[in-house]
Amino acid sequence: MDSLKIDGGVPLKGAISVSGAKNAALPLIAAGLVTDGTLQLRNVPDLVDTGSMEVLLRNHGMDVERTDDRLVIGGSATNFDAPYDLVRKMRASILVLGPLLARYGQARVSLPGGCAIGTRPVDLHIRAMQAFGAIVELADGYIQARAPGGLTGARVVFPMVSVGATENAMIAATLAKGTSELVNAAREPEISDLAECLIAMGARITGHGTDTVTIEGVDSLGGATHDVIPDRIEAGTFAIAAAITGGELTLKNARARHLDSLFEVLRRCGIIIDETDDGIRVAADGGIGSADITTDPFPGFPTDLQAQFMALMCLADGSSRISETVFENRFMHVPELMRMGADIQVDGGIAMVRGKPSLTPAPVMATDLRASVSLVLAALATEGTSEVSRIYHLDRGYSDLEAKLGQCGARMYRV
Ligand code: EPZ
Repeated sequence: MDSLKIDGGVPLKGAISVSGAKNAALPLIAAGLVTDGTLQLRNVPDLVDTGSMEVLLRNHGMDVERTDDRLVIGGSATNFDAPYDLVRKMRASILVLGPLLARYGQARVSLPGGCAIGTRPVDLHIRAMQAFGAIVELADGYIQARAPGGLTGARVVFPMVSVGATENAMIAATLAKGTSELVNAAREPEISDLAECLIAMGARITGHGTDTVTIEGVDSLGGATHDVIPDRIEAGTFAIAAAITGGELTLKNARARHLDSLFEVLRRCGIIIDETDDGIRVAADGGIGSADITTDPFPGFPTDLQAQFMALMCLADGSSRISETVFENRFMHVPELMRMGADIQVDGGIAMVRGKPSLTPAPVMATDLRASVSLVLAALATEGTSEVSRIYHLDRGYSDLEAKLGQCGARMYRV
């Protein structure tokens, strides 16, 4: 079980290249199931989670070749089961449901089970498939779905915004007979990236990036070459790393438009953020002001940056009210930050943080992907040696984190 030892207190300075977005790559790899041709994805991050999705597609019988950051997906599925031992490792495996149903009329996908941040049901995914005419049964912990005559386009109204359900429905609708309309759809940049790739494969999609997406079904989809968008959560994490260590980082390849809500808050906390030709420059030289946030679906403040922002607020001048509205249990980092001396009080989905001039180094434990990186940020800002255990969580969503931050002065090493 790997740990990261971190000797903190060093302002980070330098430039970091942001990798391809994990949460765009995962649905894009799943979309490789719907094409008759060959899908080439570039700028695919090399993560545990993208590796899991590659294994899942090979398990379905697809040809999946990775060369550096390029993935080539071709062939056809011969096995329509997504087994529990693969799905339990990564919930995003549910994203094969729509593609398998659309292309092959059948799918048997293990229910993902919960995870540290919540029960994370998949009822909205199932209801969307049923709206398209699929027959879905839940038995033995599996979703058993079939659509012998193919899927039929429908108007799907999501009672709440769901990124994954929007992605599953959008992919399924590309091969459904007739037109589909997804109402109250998620608007994340990863949705738009997936839509652009599907359009390149021959799909007819409009409205992506808004809350209503319209898809006109086609008979089949061809191949395409698509570049995965940069990871806005990784970029946001590095912006907070610059702020919390009182340093200055230039983020290369990041798209500022994907980070408006974070940058608005950081600027209010006195952090300097400049969009320059060679990237986004984030600098903090005059202390950290406090600010309240409420997480929301895009374009609101991303839940995936809540833990990282909380670490920053632990060292702010003043108090911060952090409201987590997307997941029911996404404060697992709180007890660990408190071990480092943070002053945080949680009441349901609200955390009240009282900023302090400094934290104290301590051994802490990662519990989920974004919680783990918030502990790394707190340790980087704290004089002395901290140790973050169970960092396998980190490896799911951050590639080469030690190298990227190490080249900017971070003293962190795996033990
Ligand atoms: C995606 O998860 C991301 N994962 C998550 O990132 C991210 O936190 C989340 O969207 C919100 O932005 C990927 O893209 C692979 P949701 P997803 O469906 O699709 C409830 C990370 O750290 N819900 O938008 O699973 C759900 O429980 C990960 O990279 C249902 O009730 O999120 C949650 O409370 C963590 N029924 C809310 O909706 C459903 O059928 C939003 O979930 C589906 C979701």
